[in-house]
Amino acid sequence: MSKYVIGNLKMNLSSLAELERYFKTLKNELKGKNFKNAEIIICPPAVYLQNFTQKVKNKKIKIGLQNIFWERNGSFTGEISPIMLKNLGGEYAIIGHSERRGYFGETNEMVNLKIKLMIKERLMSIFCFGETMEERGAGLTSGIISSQIQEGLKDITPSGLEKIIFAYEPVWAVGTDVIPTSNGIMEVKILVRKILTEKYGMKYAQKVAILYGGSVKAKTLNQVCLDPGMDGVLVGRESLNPVEFLKIAKSLDV
Ligand code: PGA
Repeated sequence: MSKYVIGNLKMNLSSLAELERYFKTLKNELKGKNFKNAEIIICPPAVYLQNFTQKVKNKKIKIGLQNIFWERNGSFTGEISPIMLKNLGGEYAIIGHSERRGYFGETNEMVNLKIKLMIKERLMSIFCFGETMEERGAGLTSGIISSQIQEGLKDITPSGLEKIIFAYEPVWAVGTDVIPTSNGIMEVKILVRKILTEKYGMKYAQKVAILYGGSVKAKTLNQVCLDPGMDGVLVGRESLNPVEFLKIAKSLDV
């Protein structure tokens, strides 16, 4: 299976000048590089979706959003639907990111509605889950992750599962430069595979990609991705620097 390298640009690149600088560096860095076994996806702020699908999307790089709504259209002020994503050339959306859950009250039920509509529209969901430090301290990690996954996948069939990429993002590792041990990450990977096997059977569960996210850097890739055998990474801050981001992609393109 090729490795996923997903960049979450979050609420950055605040001016067109900054955006242009980002495009220029990215283009320079991409020159002469081929990625045979790395699937690169960049998720810009929604206002730049079209800039990215027109200027960045190509055989090497796909485009997604950082959030999505669960209805196709209508009176939902401020929201963006999967139809818009699709019609503007995007193919992915991050769903259930810890910042959405933490700051905007996104629940497992909302995550489920979003993933279901993405599946109907044949788009790929990047489904984030993970425990907080308090939950970890209280020994609740596997319970929390199990319910996030079970509730997030409610009523989703095996063929729907094929449209989901899983991303384990411990909340305490996002934006903090603290990272879990390889064993800690591997334990969660095994837990997720077990939940999926019980729900869908081995045949489907083994095909699912499970990524790690949270303070990913090129120099810690062994610890967070290669050693625990993850299927790729979800990168926040380091994806704002195309040099570092593509360094990560190159290291996983093996
Ligand atoms: P970070 O963010 O790499 O800046 O920790 C990761 C994420 O939020 O996906």
